[in-house]
Amino acid sequence: MNTPILVTGGTGTIGRHVVRLLGEAGRDVRVLTRHPRASTVGVQHVAGDTVRGTGLAEALAGVETVLHLAGGAKGDDVAAGNLVRAAREAGARHLVLISVIGAGEMPIGYFRMKRAAEQEFERSGIPFSILRVAQLHDFVLPVARTMARMPLAPAPRGLRFEPVSVEEVAARLVEVALGEPAGRVPDLAGPEVLDIAELIRTFAEAQGRRRRLVRFAIPGAVGRAYRAGANLAGPAALRGRRTWREFLAERDGARDRAAARG
Ligand SMILES: NC(=O)c1ccc[n+]([C@@H]2O[C@H](COP(=O)([O-])OP(=O)(O)OC[C@H]3O[C@@H](n4cnc5c(N)ncnc54)[C@H](OP(=O)(O)O)[C@@H]3O)[C@@H](O)[C@H]2O)c1
Repeated sequence: MNTPILVTGGTGTIGRHVVRLLGEAGRDVRVLTRHPRASTVGVQHVAGDTVRGTGLAEALAGVETVLHLAGGAKGDDVAAGNLVRAAREAGARHLVLISVIGAGEMPIGYFRMKRAAEQEFERSGIPFSILRVAQLHDFVLPVARTMARMPLAPAPRGLRFEPVSVEEVAARLVEVALGEPAGRVPDLAGPEVLDIAELIRTFAEAQGRRRRLVRFAIPGAVGRAYRAGANLAGPAALRGRRTWREFLAERDGARDRAAARG
């Protein structure tokens, strides 16, 4: 029995890996979710909603470390404020936040919201760590798939991603959470900077197809920011190892194995 670590978003794409890794590290985990399910050995589910601010006191009871991974298209700033206030009440000692590379720089609502969430943590008065990460392979995949579906695939000029492996992000989050509070830690991005054209081409090739691309410029401030690489990690970032091609190959391999099993 040890002090449980609270993971908001523990049911999500990243959170599921984090919960597993914390368990493997011998830590008890409490997951805050809007859709609680039966608890298992070492993993307790607690009903709550970070945006509505419900269930937070119950989830935080007896907790020292909080990994805040819950997020959506809207309300992450509000959620961070709610969580910080409840964590202060509960006497939490280490708040860990996942954020996104470009949070302070990209002129897009999602990135601004992520920066506002960071600021809630920075002003919380509770020791904190913030890890900004690049887009996951799993996030870039539907973008490439959608564009590759079109006979003339739209490929905005200067749009680049640094896709990173979900397992590597989860492992780093666990490392940060089990360490001392460190403020803003180095960003984590994937091993390569890939133009959207390259992402579409490699995805289509993995499907045994070829795609013609149409290049165009994203207009306005958003286009300028992407072309300037405001969504990309700087030289101080940590880099994951798994490449986009490796991700696609593993995914296709897993699908083939599932098909062979029937
Ligand atoms: N995916 C990426 O490429 C990427 C890159 C950088 C940063 N991030 C950030 O990393 C975090 C996790 O991303 P992900 O891809 O794992 O997300 P995801 O798969 O969409 O999962 C979202 C998680 O957030 C929880 N959640 C959403 N709204 C909630 C609310 N109001 N109250 C409580 N829980 C709520 C969901 O839990 P229930 O549905 O069980 O309630 C779920 O566990 C997000 O903050 C995201 O912005 C993601």
